Amino acid sequence: MARSTHFTIFVVFILCLIIPVTYSLPFIVLHGISDKCSSRGGAKFTKLLSNWSGSQGYCVEIGDGSWDSWFMPLHEQTKIACDKVKSMSELSDGYNLVSLSQGSLIGRGIVEFCEGGPPVKNFISLAGIHAGEASVPLCTTTFICILADFIMELGIYSKYVQDISAYLKGCEFLPQINNEIAGKRNSTYKERFASLENLVLIMFEQDTVLIPKETAWFGYYPDGSFDVILPAQQTPLYTEDWIGLKTLDEAGKVKFINVSGGHLDISQSDMKKYIVPYLTDEASSQLTTRAESSSSHRWLSSMWNFFMKLGGSKEDQLLLSIVY
Ligand SMILES: *[C@@H]1O[C@H](CO)[C@@H](O)[C@H](O)[C@H]1NC(C)=O
Ligand SMILES: *[C@@H]1O[C@H](CO)[C@@H](O)[C@H](O)[C@H]1NC(C)=O
Ligand SMILES: *[C@@H]1O[C@H](CO)[C@@H](O)[C@H](O)[C@H]1NC(C)=O
Repeated sequence: MARSTHFTIFVVFILCLIIPVTYSLPFIVLHGISDKCSSRGGAKFTKLLSNWSGSQGYCVEIGDGSWDSWFMPLHEQTKIACDKVKSMSELSDGYNLVSLSQGSLIGRGIVEFCEGGPPVKNFISLAGIHAGEASVPLCTTTFICILADFIMELGIYSKYVQDISAYLKGCEFLPQINNEIAGKRNSTYKERFASLENLVLIMFEQDTVLIPKETAWFGYYPDGSFDVILPAQQTPLYTEDWIGLKTLDEAGKVKFINVSGGHLDISQSDMKKYIVPYLTDEASSQLTTRAESSSSHRWLSSMWNFFMKLGGSKEDQLLLSIVY
């Protein structure tokens, strides 16, 4: 009798120590073009971030993944993503967003356009396409070639002809999320974007897919020139604060991160350093009032690290190699 009571108390005690870990905000991952949630790299990326942060992560798929990421107009992709995040009850208290490459356009679409959606707290963008049409796949001729190869591989031509005009409409999407068109600027978009808690912009030093790679930091070529790259702070988007980037930056909420590697070649140690801290919710550590709880968290993560080492998992192994 007494023994089972003790046992119950012990179990309740252990649960109390562990529960705070499960309180942290969930996050979603939006993948890049021609990738899909079920691909090996994409699934592993989400899983690793979940394991390291202790937060639940969900890769949000749009349509069939690869094909639709190319050809479905970005407005439509955003609408689908918006409906999905609204329907996920897990996200209703807010969530963090991690986006890869083109997924960053969808991510910003969600933040700015998603009417009645749950709030996005931290937005972590890896090799995001943020500024300047030169960097939108297919809006320049360079990308037509990449696309042609991709189509050849699939051997589907008729669908290509149908859908190419739909894709080209995507070129209108960037000016809209950037609140670029004078007379059509909408202060609601700015208000929503400026309400982010943190905006983490990760640029890849050897990125040859994004042109220029600085688009990941909202930098771009000034009109008509491909020699000079304007840093974000010198673009009208920033100086005139079309979307609240300046507001966020002046509040110390924008992190410009520079990592070595090609497009989306992020190492595990850089993931831990630059992404995981933003997925580990502060609110959850505030809920943790007792010192034992945080030490239990430390205990759990040191156990986790121990098992990772036992499993021989290599640090710095490349994760998502080529995902346009
Ligand atoms: C993450 O943790 C779960 C259980 O804790 C484990 O099953 C899974 O293999 C881990 N994933 C990775 C990618 O290490
Ligand atoms: C701005 O966007 C919001 C939200 O989508 C919309 O309700 C509002 O009508 C728009 N305002 C203008 C002036 O277009
Ligand atoms: C990024 O880091 C590399 C290596 O540390 C450095 O050479 C380069 O100038 C940095 N780029 C920017 C834009 O800060």
